[in-house]
Amino acid sequence: MDLELTEAQREARDVARRFAREKLDRVGIEVDRTHQFPRAAIEELGKLGMLGIFIPQEYGGSGLDNVAYALVIEELSVECASTGVIVSAHSSLGSWPILGAGSEAQRLRYLPKMASGEWLGCFALTEPQAGSDAAGQKTRAVRDGDFYVVNGTKNFITNGPEAAICILFANTAPDQGHHGISAFIVETSSPGFNVVRTEDKMGIHAAHSAQLSFSDLRVPAENLLGSEGEGFKIAMKTLDGGRIGIAAQAVGIARAALEASLKYAHERKTFGNPLASYQAIQWKLADMAVEVDAARLLTLQAASLKDRGEPCTKQSAMAKLFAAETAMKAATEAVQIHGGYGYTKQFKVERFFRDAKITEIYEGTSEIQRLVISGHVLRNR
Ligand code: CAA
Repeated sequence: MDLELTEAQREARDVARRFAREKLDRVGIEVDRTHQFPRAAIEELGKLGMLGIFIPQEYGGSGLDNVAYALVIEELSVECASTGVIVSAHSSLGSWPILGAGSEAQRLRYLPKMASGEWLGCFALTEPQAGSDAAGQKTRAVRDGDFYVVNGTKNFITNGPEAAICILFANTAPDQGHHGISAFIVETSSPGFNVVRTEDKMGIHAAHSAQLSFSDLRVPAENLLGSEGEGFKIAMKTLDGGRIGIAAQAVGIARAALEASLKYAHERKTFGNPLASYQAIQWKLADMAVEVDAARLLTLQAASLKDRGEPCTKQSAMAKLFAAETAMKAATEAVQIHGGYGYTKQFKVERFFRDAKITEIYEGTSEIQRLVISGHVLRNR
């Protein structure tokens, strides 16, 4: 891996950093309180080309790569982890399956509007009884002439209420296990596509996680992604990329926790001296700094493999696992360094603590990442 960023990658990172510092700082604080979707910020990000970073220019995207994408998600997440995951779910989970598995007609119809942000995307895999066990899909799609008729329920779908496009997984042949799962591109304005409720969550308040239900939803047969039965593989390949996005989000949260802790350690005095003068605090800061850098390197390694078209399943699981646990540890230490104030809403670190937790859960829990990694290392021993 070349550790030197290209000019285009640096520029994308710097544009995202400037935008995050100037526009997202207040948004991050406000939307945590109001739970409102940051629509104006998302529209601006669309204009900056940040909603189609790795989409080729021929489909209206910025034509950059996954390394640039990871750098951008980190920068956004430093100031607002909700915005980070809204962009990540839209890009990795909503747009990528169309780029990676779609026909030319599907790419031309959907990607330009997704790259501009006119249409947001979501990814509907998880079901009430099928979370970690993603193959246990109960949602059913039955062929009826030129349509599939879909019935079922999906849970915890990021961008569910706002998305115009949903990558939907459903069983077309229930007797064939995961080989019976198919993927569809669904326009959410179609009759029978229902947003049942938005969850009231611990953190990432502005990134809405919805329960969706489908009642006799008619999906044109031409909106099948790939072939019937390919859905599970499309989901797994999509998650290989999605986990890079979540790893980058976690790096952003961990970095925010470190930066807030450094500032506070210089400002706050105890026993007549700044916190930064005490070894107990210095060691915490040192560990946080090491882990943030290590998490970023793992994330960029996975992104770089994906950009070269090489398998990245193990590395994206490693990046997501390590970055998520780093975010949780860094946020916990940041609250500890801030003492009683860290437990109040006067400082941002209590939000980082709540936002960090989800990175250990969504797009595959830490336990699932360990399962994926151990599968690879045991096979290749
Ligand atoms: N790429 C391509 N194919 C893959 C693959 C990958 N990364 N991983 C597995 N496959 C293929 C296998 O090769 C196998 O194919 P064959 O049967 O043809 O040989 C098939 O998929 C089944 O593989 P496994 O036997 O390993 O599958 P499994 O049923 O044991 O499940 C699992 C594996 C890793 C546990 C998987 O179910 C998984 O990742 N679970 C977690 C799901 C998840 O992350 N959900 C989050 C959804 S998104 C979200 O959080 C909401 C949001 O909006 C943010």
